[in-house]
Amino acid sequence: MTENEKTPQNPTVSVPTRPLGTTGPAVSALGLGCMGMSALYGDADRAESIATIHAALDAGITLLDTGDFYAMGHNEMLIGEALRTAPAAAREKALTSVKFGALRDPDGGWSGYDGRPAAVKNFAAYSLQRLGVDHIDVYRIARLDPDVPVEETVGAIAELVEKGHVRHIGLSEVGAETIRRAAATAPIADLQIEYSLISRGIEESILPTTRELGIGVTAYGVLSRGLISGHFTRDRRLAANDFRGMSPRFQGDNLQHNLDLVERLRKIAEQKGVSVAQIAIAWVLARGAQHGHDIVPLVGARRRDRLAEALGALDVTLDAGDLASIEEAVPADAAAGERYPAGQMAHLDSER
Ligand SMILES: NC(=O)c1ccc[n+]([C@@H]2O[C@H](COP(=O)([O-])OP(=O)(O)OC[C@H]3O[C@@H](n4cnc5c(N)ncnc54)[C@H](OP(=O)(O)O)[C@@H]3O)[C@@H](O)[C@H]2O)c1
Repeated sequence: MTENEKTPQNPTVSVPTRPLGTTGPAVSALGLGCMGMSALYGDADRAESIATIHAALDAGITLLDTGDFYAMGHNEMLIGEALRTAPAAAREKALTSVKFGALRDPDGGWSGYDGRPAAVKNFAAYSLQRLGVDHIDVYRIARLDPDVPVEETVGAIAELVEKGHVRHIGLSEVGAETIRRAAATAPIADLQIEYSLISRGIEESILPTTRELGIGVTAYGVLSRGLISGHFTRDRRLAANDFRGMSPRFQGDNLQHNLDLVERLRKIAEQKGVSVAQIAIAWVLARGAQHGHDIVPLVGARRRDRLAEALGALDVTLDAGDLASIEEAVPADAAAGERYPAGQMAHLDSER
């Protein structure tokens, strides 16, 4: 191997771009999900978070995903700072994908969703300010507001598009019927939804619908929040504010069962000379490769070493034999435990 040869262990990368659906922007083949830099996975290191965003932009990642409710604007302000301090060329290429709609309280509680048109415009006004940008590239409600028809919420974003405050409309965690209604209202660039080796619910009706309608998928949880990264251990102590402490998949016997699946994956990874996380990300990429690369994984790296590992997945080729071995090691319904606690599952239009 020469020093400059690009391999999964040495991702000296130039990240390819992919179209986000038929109407969306061209985005990097991997996006950076910034949530864990502010919320939900315990404490993060601010300087390292910003260095990670800079390293991602430097490597050619253009898509940065956030939510205005990730630590109440903290995540958007962090991204704003990273963009302000990035070289101009990288900043100009960066695309922001923002979720809104979740209602919070000062103690960090969650109290539902608001998708009313006036609320949509209000959320957007604050996000633009916190991010320090003059438009948001893809804007989406995080969860369907059950009291507001999706046409009204999407219609309000379409008005923001007309005025130049937003470029494209996205969706998040909605099912096939809602996708169709939204797409009948305005062009939809992408659906953001959980998809991984152990979260394959979208394959039945959601993915066929996005493909029929020319809507891209930005997949989150491709490492199942670290569970199938190969780095998560049974004795890991989680902070009180870590989502995983409440997630069914990380509890007791479920955790052991799921980590046993990771060990099966590790054998395959070792045979290929790559890491478990790289196999898991490459598998998601492979699922989109057969359909015009319509699936863009959002990796939740919040450290530069994790980012480098994730980027290495772009150089992993999984042939039919590899895919069959992976399927055998981790069959579609192999995981123990739901992907969210029951109360949060109830908010998922995608699970109806
Ligand atoms: N639309 C929605 O409903 C929704 C929901 C959740 C998330 N999202 C978005 O999707 C993004 C990604 O989701 P996620 O963070 O749950 O995904 P993820 O990539 O499955 O999980 C990230 C976790 O995996 C761990 N990890 C270990 N090795 C890694 C590696 N090489 N690269 C990246 N992470 C590695 C990280 O661990 P350590 O940092 O602990 O080492 C981090 O805690 C979020 O940041 C957010 O923007 C959207």
